[in-house]
Amino acid sequence: MGTGEGAGLTGAERAEGRERVDPHARADWRGAPAWADAHGRWSPRPEPARPTEAARAVGELQGASYERNAFARGTEAEADELCARLALEPDHRLLDLGAATGRHSRALAARGCGRPVAVDLSHTALCAGVAREHDAATAAADRAAAVPPVQWVQADARALPLPAASVDAAVSLCQGGFGLTPDHDRAVLAELARVLRPGGRLALTAYSLAFAARFLAPEDALDLPRGLLHAPTEIRDAHGRDHPADHWSTCYSPAHLRDLLDAVGLETTGLWGWEPGAPTGRPPVVTDPELLVVAVRQASIREASI
Ligand SMILES: C[S@@+](CC[C@H](N)C(=O)[O-])C[C@H]1O[C@@H](n2cnc3c(N)ncnc32)[C@H](O)[C@@H]1O
Repeated sequence: MGTGEGAGLTGAERAEGRERVDPHARADWRGAPAWADAHGRWSPRPEPARPTEAARAVGELQGASYERNAFARGTEAEADELCARLALEPDHRLLDLGAATGRHSRALAARGCGRPVAVDLSHTALCAGVAREHDAATAAADRAAAVPPVQWVQADARALPLPAASVDAAVSLCQGGFGLTPDHDRAVLAELARVLRPGGRLALTAYSLAFAARFLAPEDALDLPRGLLHAPTEIRDAHGRDHPADHWSTCYSPAHLRDLLDAVGLETTGLWGWEPGAPTGRPPVVTDPELLVVAVRQASIREASI
């Protein structure tokens, strides 16, 4: 029996073309991708060449039906958690990054928790959000008069059309711009640090590496050195048709996330487990699919980091 790729497999697995990961050949941080399935077998995957386009497909295909996703039923619970964790005041300028239809923007504005600017790449999702805001205002004209309108902006998280230090708080939830590739993530955090005022707070969710590794689905693969998950999936569009899609997610340990935030001038002040639609309100455990981190923008941030 050899020791290279293919060693230690059953005959059927070798016939399928499966290879076992050779940790010496592939576990190089900057080297070849190390995609492996739930059994540690080499599992070739496409590289996320255009991860932003793939992420935008959710908003573009689902549009108004985005809020039919099961997790959206927990929007009010999530908004309560965000309002408390960020200590939001009615006059706070609040950035909702990767907002899609702005479900958090609208829920927070309705609570008197900030004046939101909802940013997303997807024009279709933003238009659906505008329509929902209009419908809510029409249905409750007296109450809506007191709710600050959401400002809707189509833009890329890596190049926000907002001045430096212009927002009091920011949220980025459910892969709202953050969570696509390691390089992309750093660029997004640097932009968030730039637009937050000193002392301003960020609430961000990220996929948990512990969860991804423990509960890797049979069709998924994880590149452990990069913390990158590939999950072939299907997006159901507004007409009920399914579209095959590649879904990449960066996954983090709490320590790695804290270091990345720190590198751009955002100091972590709190960390909780997060289940989309059902915030846990307690420290994370390995069965939490995501992490919620709150970080404060430091008074000065190094030029090099932004
Ligand atoms: C799964 S949705 C999450 C939406 C919302 N934050 C929520 O929790 O419901 C992810 C959104 O991020 C947007 N997005 C992905 N990459 C982005 C980028 N680089 N800049 C702006 N928006 C982005 C997508 O268009 C999509 O609407």
